[in-house]
Amino acid sequence: MTLNDQITEIRSKFSKDLKLAKTSKNIEHLKISYLGKKGSVQSLMQFLKDAKNDERPILGKQINDLKYEITSHLENSLKRLLLEEETIKLKSEHLDVTLPGRKHHWGRYHPVTLTLNKILDALISMGFAVETGPDVDSDFYNFEGLNFAKDHPARDMQDTFYISDDLLLRTHTSNVQVRVMEKSKPPIRCIAPGKCFRNETISSRSHVFFHQVEFFYIDENVSFVDLFATIDEFFAKLFKKPIETRFRPSFFPFVEPGMECDIKCEICKGQGCRLCKDSGWLEVFGAGMIHPNVLKAGGIDPEKYSGFAAGLGVERLAMLMYEIKDIRLFTENDIRFLKQFDL
Ligand code: DAH
Repeated sequence: MTLNDQITEIRSKFSKDLKLAKTSKNIEHLKISYLGKKGSVQSLMQFLKDAKNDERPILGKQINDLKYEITSHLENSLKRLLLEEETIKLKSEHLDVTLPGRKHHWGRYHPVTLTLNKILDALISMGFAVETGPDVDSDFYNFEGLNFAKDHPARDMQDTFYISDDLLLRTHTSNVQVRVMEKSKPPIRCIAPGKCFRNETISSRSHVFFHQVEFFYIDENVSFVDLFATIDEFFAKLFKKPIETRFRPSFFPFVEPGMECDIKCEICKGQGCRLCKDSGWLEVFGAGMIHPNVLKAGGIDPEKYSGFAAGLGVERLAMLMYEIKDIRLFTENDIRFLKQFDL
């Protein structure tokens, strides 16, 4: 067969094949079988090898013309078929833009975290620096160093989870005090946030697990006036307005004198309500001047330095700020409760 015969044969076979091709995939196959390395057009190259020198360019041009012809037919058909296929796909994938969207549920901060962050922001802006202590601590840092003698009845005030004779779950964040004193020199302005544990009966107002923030200031000539001023400033920052406070004498072994601090109930404005048990006041934290024995335990000379310390319950303050009536809600992880709180 001459080259011309072969070309005519390929051309007519191609035109039949092309008519039968109904999908873009079919076109891809045709491309391979006609123009691929082992395709029919390529096989014509055999003629060039055997041709005489002067005929070779003419035969080459004929083969090339066939190649371009087939290529352009294939390209046109491919374009047309792709478009058809796209149209069919779009029609079948009907999109109803009027359907309501799917809601995403964003995570939120836990109300205790929100409250803790507010407390820390206020104290940090007043020059206090955050320190943390361990949840599992020795008797020394939790009690002994804080002037609780071994058989001191005040230990009974804090029902303790003991791990061994000497190891316990800290009952308060006051355990950070002596630790910080040991490693730093006055002036010390420290805030210690963290978890606390007490073996108490769980009720709407108390829990075995809760958070406290302890803060203390040690320097020369620190007095009760500094404590009052700091507490007033702290509440004004926290509630973004001045808050009325009231101080009552109280006893904690690690402070002398010691006191409890109440704030005017924000909910009833001092008129009396369920939250403040009709007293118009809410107890929010304990405070006092650091006992000389505690300063000594931390290696600080009580003749030269004095300081104040205060500790507040985060859940208690959160209950107040968000009007939460039951402390147990904080640990129940009920999503209906948790999703009510925003920054
Ligand atoms: N640590 C005490 C408690 O958990 C709270 C407290 C009272 C801390 C008086 C203080 C303080 O720093 O001065 O009951």
